[in-house]
Amino acid sequence: MTEPASILEVRGLSKRYLGLTAVDNLSFEVEAGAVVGMIGPNGSGKSTTIDCISGFQPADGGQWFLDGHEMTGLPPHRIARAGLTRTFQAVRAYDELTLLENLCVAVQENDGVGWLQALGRGSRLRRSEAAAEVRGRDLLATVGLADYTDAPAAILSYGQRKLLTIAASMMARPKLVVLDEPVAGVNPTMIRHIEQVIHKLNAEGVTLVLIEHNIDFIMSLCRRVIVLESGCKIADGPPGLIRSDPHVIAAYLGQTRAAELDQRRV
Ligand SMILES: Nc1ncnc2c1ncn2[C@@H]1O[C@H](COP(=O)(O)OP(=O)(O)OP(=O)(O)O)[C@@H](O)[C@H]1O
Ligand SMILES: [Mg+2]
Repeated sequence: MTEPASILEVRGLSKRYLGLTAVDNLSFEVEAGAVVGMIGPNGSGKSTTIDCISGFQPADGGQWFLDGHEMTGLPPHRIARAGLTRTFQAVRAYDELTLLENLCVAVQENDGVGWLQALGRGSRLRRSEAAAEVRGRDLLATVGLADYTDAPAAILSYGQRKLLTIAASMMARPKLVVLDEPVAGVNPTMIRHIEQVIHKLNAEGVTLVLIEHNIDFIMSLCRRVIVLESGCKIADGPPGLIRSDPHVIAAYLGQTRAAELDQRRV
């Protein structure tokens, strides 16, 4: 069992792909109500970490707990139902469905049911859909997409699609959400908007882990940042310490450019 203050505890997580160790005996905790950043160079194991703890990839070792309950080895829908959801680095949306339908489908997926299967379920689906519809409309308002409720997802801009996936991750009323690169490739105005959405969700009591390469975004939202390199945690602390940590600087740009980076204060 985990300490009551930690909503997520990961102990000794390992994941190998053939000869490659993507996550190497990684342990960390996330305190309830926090917004925690997770950064690290390309290929350092950030997405693999969340793939494992959300049940989308089998781990090779380790245990993880949500709110004191062991989640190790459970499938994604069981973990989602327990209160941990995530977005994917590559935006996933059903272009031909409306935004509201996309959110209703997210509920079915969290129940472990594919959308085609779900659409064939008849009246039981209609009842659960009525509740999902209310929640979906609410969330579309929260993320600022209410005007597009009945429009097909195909018409959304890239940044708006990111917002839709954040809304989808919130459908199951999770305790903890991991957003995998929520602002990658998004323009500065939309980044500020997504930042406000994250503040709003956190103020409503949701704990968030943000995986990002945008350091300014992470540093402005998070009081604590975990840094990975080659599947290992190399730093864990407040932004001020992370910025000046020589291991972090070296991991990002290599020893030879460390001084230059320090001057630029990324
Ligand atoms: N499905 C897979 N099969 C084989 N190797 C994989 C798979 N997924 C990830 N890897 C490898 O595991 C390592 C960690 O990848 P991961 O995607 O977790 O990194 P990341 O920190 O999320 O990187 P990025 O910032 O580029 O998204 C990489 O070397 C990657 O090539
Ligand atoms: Mg990744």
